[in-house]
Amino acid sequence: MGAEIARHLARRGARVAVHYHGSAAAALELTDELAHGARAFRADLSTPDGPGALLAACEQDGMSPDAVVHAAASFLRRPLATTTAEEWDGVMALNLRALFLLARDYGSLRGGRGGQIVAIADSGARELWPGYLAHCVSKAGVLTLVQALAKAMAPKFRVNAVVPGPVLLPEGVSSAEREAIRGRTLLGRLGEPRHVAEAVEFLLACDYATGAILDITGGAHLWRSEKG
Ligand SMILES: NC(=O)c1ccc[n+]([C@@H]2O[C@H](COP(=O)([O-])OP(=O)(O)OC[C@H]3O[C@@H](n4cnc5c(N)ncnc54)[C@H](OP(=O)(O)O)[C@@H]3O)[C@@H](O)[C@H]2O)c1
Repeated sequence: MGAEIARHLARRGARVAVHYHGSAAAALELTDELAHGARAFRADLSTPDGPGALLAACEQDGMSPDAVVHAAASFLRRPLATTTAEEWDGVMALNLRALFLLARDYGSLRGGRGGQIVAIADSGARELWPGYLAHCVSKAGVLTLVQALAKAMAPKFRVNAVVPGPVLLPEGVSSAEREAIRGRTLLGRLGEPRHVAEAVEFLLACDYATGAILDITGGAHLWRSEKG
């Protein structure tokens, strides 16, 4: 998803700083593919210092981002009964705390120049799937954090969120599960990465949007067992 957002914005003229953690080869391949002098930067965003180090590395390389898109996340499948404290903390650190730290340090670095942030949430934040308890709570936190940041960072910064529905399903999802997921959208189909990238582009371009939460879920966040 992050790669597709990067491609989409690069096609529209953005110079993209690609962040990666473990996928160095894929990130370098992507920067080669993108035009406009894209660069790749490694950071572990789950650590307290990772987000700040990433922004500092961009600055040192002469890239002071006009916008930050936070898409990195885990997708821990774990029900309440078996979620450990360490797993809970790990999910919150990457999915939620990293956004807070990025915003804090981005605000300091950019100061009066301002900027904008788009966070990628998940329709799990609305649907609260019991099998992904920590994940869903972290993404619900992203939605609240985005609105709190929009208030805290106004008027120089705009902070918004996209809430994707089912797009790229994790490995190991059976065809029956896939059908069930597809069936729980109002549009009866899975989304594509470009749908999320287009929503990011819209929020970046619409300079009266802040604190906005854009659901691009095919209606999954509104699904209920009886449509009638
Ligand atoms: N896929 C969907 O259908 C879907 C639906 C709703 C919402 N979303 C949301 O959309 C976003 C992208 O989803 P995706 O499916 O593209 O996810 P993905 O393929 O699992 O990619 C997750 C990314 O997070 C990075 N990451 C993992 N651990 C990290 C760490 N400790 N520090 C820094 N980066 C780390 C990974 O980087 P490396 O590979 O370099 O390690 C990877 O690029 C996520 O926020 C997800 O919750 C996805």
